[in-house]
Amino acid sequence: MTHTHPWWYDAVVYQVYIRSFADAMPSPGDGIGDLPGITARLPYLRALGVDALWITPFYTSPQKDHGYDVADYTDVDPLFGDLADFDRMLAAAHDLGLRVIVDLVPNHTSSAHPWFQAALAAAPGSPERARYLFRPGRGKHGELPPNNWDSVFGGPAWTQVTDGSWYLHLFDTSQPDLDWRNPEVGDMFEDVLRFWLDRGVDGFRVDVAHGLYKEASLRDQRKPDPTTLKKKAKAKESMVERVLNDEPMWDQPEVHEVYRRWRKVLESYPGERMAVAEAWTQTPESMALFIRPDELHQAFNFSWLGTPWSAAEFADVITRSIAAVASSSSAPTWVLSNHDVERHPTRYGGGPVGLARGRAATLAMLALPGSAYLYQGEELGLEQVDVPPEARQDPSWFRTGKPGRDGCRVPLPWAGDAPPYGFGGPAGTQPWIPQPADWAPLTVEAESADPDSTLAFYRRALALRREVFAGADEETVASAQGDLLVVRRAGVRVVLNAGKKPVELPAGEVLISSSPLESGLLPPDTAAWIR
Ligand code: NOJ
Repeated sequence: MTHTHPWWYDAVVYQVYIRSFADAMPSPGDGIGDLPGITARLPYLRALGVDALWITPFYTSPQKDHGYDVADYTDVDPLFGDLADFDRMLAAAHDLGLRVIVDLVPNHTSSAHPWFQAALAAAPGSPERARYLFRPGRGKHGELPPNNWDSVFGGPAWTQVTDGSWYLHLFDTSQPDLDWRNPEVGDMFEDVLRFWLDRGVDGFRVDVAHGLYKEASLRDQRKPDPTTLKKKAKAKESMVERVLNDEPMWDQPEVHEVYRRWRKVLESYPGERMAVAEAWTQTPESMALFIRPDELHQAFNFSWLGTPWSAAEFADVITRSIAAVASSSSAPTWVLSNHDVERHPTRYGGGPVGLARGRAATLAMLALPGSAYLYQGEELGLEQVDVPPEARQDPSWFRTGKPGRDGCRVPLPWAGDAPPYGFGGPAGTQPWIPQPADWAPLTVEAESADPDSTLAFYRRALALRREVFAGADEETVASAQGDLLVVRRAGVRVVLNAGKKPVELPAGEVLISSSPLESGLLPPDTAAWIR
């Protein structure tokens, strides 16, 4: 396999949601995944055929948002092990030829971070407060929040402290937003980057990469009224006119200076260190700004994940995503599931149809240029779990009363017939989010023994991807022929039947299909690679 591109350009990256991947400590485990658990399961990832893993935050944290609330950016939370466990995991991954990307959370700290604790102890207007966004309230006595912004997790984005000031948190109250206009903040994060780069990480996934700067005025948001929402829905149909939201809290131009600085830091290290942005921008074009040649290397392409089950929509999003990155030195990225969204087989309708569609979308994705991000458990065909209310832990559940994201975060089933399915922890106990009683056929053990399992399918598809598409640089052309998505790349035709009837397969050798074929026909909800 010849590689003219850096490793990340066409890598398959497997997302490890650490709390739910594998639990090894303290032996036999406490029901929460950890670093030694990852180390123990690295051979599984090697055999699956991925190139890298991205590990969600394992830093010191009160775990109010399961690690996305960091109290110490340069240490490991005792729940997950310690720095020596991290070093062992990294060395073991590198020995197996796996790269490791860690999560960086620069938009906000935990309220337990020493900076925020110092800010609370200090007076309004003090340098300690100036690292965050403290403001006086509105109303006669400052009893109203400084503006009308909402938290992503529901409710107002401001919380009042005892002296009457308010602080901004675009997420939970336990996640105060930093003020990136204060140079101390940028300097702190450069130190954090260097700390992990010195330890040998291959890259960073940048949390809320589009959020660090807010419009300086902190003015009210013009919230979309119902007519605009209708127009937006129409715009989506026509794909021409797009009505954008007014978002003074996201995607400000100043943020790009941060990534120019980080790019220089990353490039000062040997070994193609990289960073991938989690940037929920409003258009593929604004997403592309994050991956200009002097900024970050990649950005997640969430438009693929949000595409409904339609050949025309798939073709459109593929074409637009490829075009959007064409002016950068980057490549597109593709993602169908992660720890924040409903698992894709469930999104596609659930049950056997949802699973068939999920496998078909995955097979199409693995043929596309650029890199693919997989989320743990999708290789087992796991569905979103309906977690009982008393077991829910997502901060957004507590703020809104809506089910939240726990259903895609249920610990992985590795083996056996009953919880904890080899995840770790004492026999007969449930892990931190309870696992369903009917997962026995979905364990790694069970699926490894079945050549028709989703796991076997992922292994075959990943191996073939290396064989067929490695280093392929030719143009990729996607089109919809009725309900059939057709993608041409590297002499291969990728077809996906998004319709309701079987269709004639194009002539050629079938390299792989996502479900069994019916004598020369491609059934609905099925994809195939044909050469
Ligand atoms: C995005 C992360 O993926 C999500 O899990 C987290 O809650 C928010 N950022 C806040 O850090």
